[in-house]
Amino acid sequence: MRLITTKKELFDAIPRDLSIGLVPTMGALHSGHASLMKLARQENELLVASIFVNPLQFEALGDCDDYRNYPRDLDADLKLLEECGVDIVFAPSVSEMYPTGIPLVWVRTGVMGEKLEGASRPGHFDGVATVVSKLFNLVRPDRAYFGQKDAQQVAVIRRLVADLDIPVEIRAVPIIRGTDGLAESSRNQRLSPEERKNALVLSHVLNKLKARTIDIADARAELAQAAGVKLDHLEVVDPTTLEPLNDLSQPALAVAAIYVGPVRLIDNIEITNQQ
Ligand code: PAJ
Repeated sequence: MRLITTKKELFDAIPRDLSIGLVPTMGALHSGHASLMKLARQENELLVASIFVNPLQFEALGDCDDYRNYPRDLDADLKLLEECGVDIVFAPSVSEMYPTGIPLVWVRTGVMGEKLEGASRPGHFDGVATVVSKLFNLVRPDRAYFGQKDAQQVAVIRRLVADLDIPVEIRAVPIIRGTDGLAESSRNQRLSPEERKNALVLSHVLNKLKARTIDIADARAELAQAAGVKLDHLEVVDPTTLEPLNDLSQPALAVAAIYVGPVRLIDNIEITNQQ
């Protein structure tokens, strides 16, 4: 495995005669990231992983505690990536990625990036789409891998490559959860044992919604009243357009975000038509 920190080195290191898989990450890697690596390893001859905590997708372009406190542990990340059989790790500095400072030209995600997560995090998906476009241009992968944990991110990236004709296949990978049901997230590190227990209501409520033992209103009420939890949103949406759905006869996605203490957690579940 080779660790590369500059665009020039990356360009020189990537052979053009192999199929290339790219897994973009922000580091603080866990079993969720590992499952992306595993699928990408199976499907490509060369596997590139990136580690870059992208200031553009944080509040105030990174001038915030969420960015400053984002967990960073390159040594542990490299160990996990080595175990996953990654060939090239691209871990640039902020000044390498954005040499002239904050870019003047961004990718704009419009309405898709303004709803759900984007309503609470203005500009977040523009920051994601901009950095992911740069990574696609730098690596030119055949396939790129994203976790279904961030369902809106998957939907936005699919539209990005469709709308801008970027020649890459987007592969979505199922959510990896802890044994208690909590979706794995780098942010879980910031939960106390008590907060982690409180956070479990999120996956429990989504499971009940899928099983149709509660309806959307009950689900919202349960999250709103749960101990130590603040509900941000719970919606049932079309997985492709993210438009709200009332008719559950078609494939739907229940997506939710809660705050547990200062930590924002998201989760989602597919709701299929059950007769
Ligand atoms: P990050 O939060 O590090 O996540 C990297 C990838 O891992 C994302 O595609 C995310 O959906 C996936 N992932 C995280 N937790 C997962 C879980 N429990 N199960 C399955 N997949 C999981 O998402 C980002 O970074 C950034 O926005 C990025 C795409 C790298 C752009 O900066």
